[in-house]
Amino acid sequence: MSADVLASRHMSLWWDGVAAPPRPPLAEDASCDVAVVGAGITGLTTALLAARAGLSVRVIDMAGVATGTSGYTTAKVTSQHHLTYARLRLTHGDSGARTYAAAMEAAKEQVATLAEGVPCDLQRCPAYVFGTRPGERTLLELETRAAQAAGLPARFDDEVPLPFSTIGGMRLDDQIQFHAVKYLLGLADQVTAAGATIHEQTRALDVKEHDAFAEVRTTQGNLRAAHVVVATLLPFLDRGLHFARAHASRSYVVTARIAGDLPTAMLQGAGPPAHSVRSVPFGDETLLMALGASHHTGGRADDSRYAAVAEFMARHWEVTTFTHRWSSQDYIPVDGIPYIGRLGHGSERVHVATGLKKWGMTGGTLAGMLITDAITGRDNPWAGLFSAERLSLVSGAPRLAGENGRVALHLVGDRLLDRGSRDLEELAPDEGAIVSFDGDLVAGYRAADSTLHAVSPTCTHLGCHVRWNGAERSWDCPCHGSRFTPDGEILCGPATEPLRRHR
Ligand SMILES: Cc1cc2nc3c(=O)[nH]c(=O)nc-3n(C[C@H](O)[C@H](O)[C@H](O)COP(=O)(O)OP(=O)(O)OC[C@H]3O[C@@H](n4cnc5c(N)ncnc54)[C@H](O)[C@@H]3O)c2cc1C
Ligand code: FES
Repeated sequence: MSADVLASRHMSLWWDGVAAPPRPPLAEDASCDVAVVGAGITGLTTALLAARAGLSVRVIDMAGVATGTSGYTTAKVTSQHHLTYARLRLTHGDSGARTYAAAMEAAKEQVATLAEGVPCDLQRCPAYVFGTRPGERTLLELETRAAQAAGLPARFDDEVPLPFSTIGGMRLDDQIQFHAVKYLLGLADQVTAAGATIHEQTRALDVKEHDAFAEVRTTQGNLRAAHVVVATLLPFLDRGLHFARAHASRSYVVTARIAGDLPTAMLQGAGPPAHSVRSVPFGDETLLMALGASHHTGGRADDSRYAAVAEFMARHWEVTTFTHRWSSQDYIPVDGIPYIGRLGHGSERVHVATGLKKWGMTGGTLAGMLITDAITGRDNPWAGLFSAERLSLVSGAPRLAGENGRVALHLVGDRLLDRGSRDLEELAPDEGAIVSFDGDLVAGYRAADSTLHAVSPTCTHLGCHVRWNGAERSWDCPCHGSRFTPDGEILCGPATEPLRRHR
């Protein structure tokens, strides 16, 4: 049964049957109060709140509205972020955990407010994080107590609404699930109705900060603004060093028609493997949605990841057809707290949001709220916890050391291991690998129609060697998550230059 998943539509369900109006690229140099780079949930929320605060706003996106991770999410809007509160209690005490909870609850309710009048299938339902092994019960009880101390109405339930046996889970009522792309297209309409402009197909290449203004250099002209908001999942500006303080993680999502009862809540396993499930309205039916098989970007990525999620679904539900499959990535911060705020010390005009750790429906919305407050000079008591300038040496140190050790290994080790022992011509149809071509080491791909593609394997960000992603047919960098097409074009950053073409 799980093999049938490859017959499903290889696209985000959120984009199936939804048409987005094209928005013209930036046509000439322009100026505004706030330039927002990135039209995902973070950029659009910031743009809307800033425009409603009376500021002139322009949004640019290298592709289009909701074409980044926001269009490939599972769209759970909740303050329950896996096992977050017990960890926060340890590292930041009850007051830190309370700040996090209050901020995420406010973000969730902000989504509900912004969704008013937007037909985006918004539903209120409980969220659970559940366990399947006896050892996980202690973890979940600790999480429940920490969430309660943080002010959330959490409770431990022995029974969890799943068709398989669990050891119970932490329940949080009154959470939200919705249709991600319908919400974001609605947000984009509200952004333009508030007087702001959205330019698609406009890539930001650099941001320079001056005393009186900041300037975004783009592929279509320059944008001068009092404030620039870099809402590009991970900033493409290296000077904040966020690429070294968060790692890219991919996850796989599958939807299916099932016979029998659908979940009445959003549920996530304490894991591993940390599967997450929800139901999703689609046309005149309702489907089961599951996420799993997560791994570092640049790790082994092929169709077996989809098969693993499908196998989990088929094991526990009576699947009649798998309908959609897609994958996407987000950045996981070393200390478990998103980075939201000024790019770095001495940077008064450039704001960022990253490290949303697969909870960016609330985290990205919160970023819009915090950054708009910063720009309009409103004090926000939550801003300190999320500061993008923090180093978190104590709470994040072990992961920081581990992550940067992993990156160093790729930077040096992969160059020694990638010898190109096969020739480009030897690639089978639909195979990608690091091979030799004309005496050079190349990242080669033979398409299903036998066309050969060859690009440099050296990532244009900081020089790690890319790895073939056979599930999405892309070259993915294991160091900081840049991704490229078989012809080397950028799919997502922090790289700002394509891979050099050999053929
Ligand atoms: C599989 C998966 C499931 C998830 N499920 C959930 C969930 O259920 N609930 C939840 O809360 N969170 C979830 N998340 C996380 C959430 O989806 C993300 O955190 C959130 O969508 C990030 O939004 P964003 O606006 O910051 O980034 P994005 O949506 O990625 O938007 C960034 C935009 O910037 C543009 N861009 C990038 N570089 C440039 C440039 N140089 N110039 C111009 N434009 C540029 C891109 O084209 C893109 O449109 C999930 C993540 C994944 C991977
Ligand atoms: S993304 Fe940083 S080296 Fe490739």
